Amino acid sequence: MHKDICEILISEEQIRTKVAELGQQISEHYQGKNLLLLGTLKGAVPFIADLARAIHVPLELDYMAVASYGDSTVSSGIVRITKDLEGPIDHKHVLIIEDIIDSGLTLHYLIDLLRRRNPLSLRICALLTKDRKRLQEIECDYVGFHIPDRFVVGYGLDYAQRYRNLPYVGILKPSVYEGSQKPQTEHQSPAER
Ligand code: PRP
Ligand code: MN
Ligand code: MG
Repeated sequence: MHKDICEILISEEQIRTKVAELGQQISEHYQGKNLLLLGTLKGAVPFIADLARAIHVPLELDYMAVASYGDSTVSSGIVRITKDLEGPIDHKHVLIIEDIIDSGLTLHYLIDLLRRRNPLSLRICALLTKDRKRLQEIECDYVGFHIPDRFVVGYGLDYAQRYRNLPYVGILKPSVYEGSQKPQTEHQSPAER
């Protein structure tokens, strides 16, 4: 285990099993449909890479990157696109792939924006969803794991851009971020998100 991690919340093995299950469900639902997997940069990269290989119907991959604005204590909920999709989606069934739903602000913004582009359908798949009161409610079609409201890193999730390459999801030792701001979504500075 990495020295900055105090507990492994979801092991590599648990992730592997869950990704296979989700891949199966998704394959069944999108049989014969023009599927686009839309990954959110950067956190969802390991998840979409594994999930795409567990889906056994034809699909396309594309990515969007969004950056949040706001002061350091309260998220404004204003999100800016820093990388957009390559083309229109009005003839595609879009499945958004997210690593985690925390406050709900990122997905709320993304869903709103994508709906206006008239995809044939729009669904959400999130590996993790935090058990907390959200700033925006999100209806998620595929969920990997419900997790407690702790600061987690690994398998794509970062703290100050680090730990994304850990193969599991773990809880970060408080000593790592003590002295800096509390590393929760709505408390993180835009530079760190
Ligand atoms: C994280 C995470 C989700 C989002 C969830 O991304 O990957 O995309 O925050 O938080 P929310 O539900 O409170 O909006 P982040 O903005 O840190 O960018 P990253 O993926 O590049 O780490
Ligand atoms: Mn993200
Ligand atoms: Mg982040």
